[in-house]
Amino acid sequence: MKVNTATALAHPNIAFIKYWGDIDPSMHIPTNGSISMNLQELYTRTRVSFDPALEHDQFSLNGCEVEDVAFRRVSDFLDYVRKTVGITIFASVESHNNFPVGTGIASSASGFAALSLAASKAAGLNLDERALSRLARTGSGSACRSIPSGFVEWYAGSSDQDSYAQSIAPSEHWDIVDCIVVVSQEEKPISSSAGHLLAGTSLLQPTRVTDAPNRLERCRKAILQRDFDALVEVVELDSNLMHAVMLTSSPTLLYWKPATVTIMQAVQSWRKTGLPVCYTIDAGPNVHVICANDSLQTITDNLDRLPGVLKILISHPGGPARFENNRSRM
Ligand code: DP6
Repeated sequence: MKVNTATALAHPNIAFIKYWGDIDPSMHIPTNGSISMNLQELYTRTRVSFDPALEHDQFSLNGCEVEDVAFRRVSDFLDYVRKTVGITIFASVESHNNFPVGTGIASSASGFAALSLAASKAAGLNLDERALSRLARTGSGSACRSIPSGFVEWYAGSSDQDSYAQSIAPSEHWDIVDCIVVVSQEEKPISSSAGHLLAGTSLLQPTRVTDAPNRLERCRKAILQRDFDALVEVVELDSNLMHAVMLTSSPTLLYWKPATVTIMQAVQSWRKTGLPVCYTIDAGPNVHVICANDSLQTITDNLDRLPGVLKILISHPGGPARFENNRSRM
């Protein structure tokens, strides 16, 4: 019996305009559109083999067998692919992240983007970019933005058909950098998936959502015009709005550590001295410090001097999710 195998690689992304809250949590149809940048230096590589000899799905991450919630998510995703194709064969999934676990970098985006390519191909589907983005979204919302290249917009839509991501500009369009400042390696207490469900309990969420088209427009324009000052303003505002919603949810979500606030304040003070830089923070305590490539050295020197900084990972705008040679190293 034939084993069908495919391997793919995808980058995580950092959201400049955030996804927070769903109109349909089961399909990850978001309350608002979002914009992100793929992170070139970080990636997940995933090999999927549909194997008639298997009696159940298998999933390993960085060489270790996974059996908990993460396995359930992968197996549910494979069920969705199997249902689409009309097959019942189980699969083995081997994933490797080149970035350390516990650094607060969402591996679900690169993970489900790579899995979408590899699983759909191994199951015999040849999906175009839009269909791949929609498929990745069913695994993890932000994964749909890791399918296209460079700077990417996820059109919220209102159903599975029209909720997908597309590139605004390729990775080489703009030389900006994400310095991912790790201040905690602990697992976050509330996952993004659980957090999305709480967004609607905040009084501020309707305001955040209603104004989203305006922020998306400002961010899109700033990227297209390579206007860093404009980008900085809207990125920091959007991050603050999402955290305001988190802080005013019931129960309240406070992901920050003291070092998170230290970095936020430092970044704002550096900007006042004329350094082009801003921060954005996802559902965790670690801070993404976005700067122009020509001020990278100054920024990392400054960050290194701050208390509580454990590690800094540097990443430039990244390419699309792509297939790899099946015999590629894992
Ligand atoms: C704060 O895509 O991780 O990073 O769809 O439940 O997997 P699920 O959530 P996820 O949420 C991302 C939340 C965020 C903002 C963003 O990336 O837009």
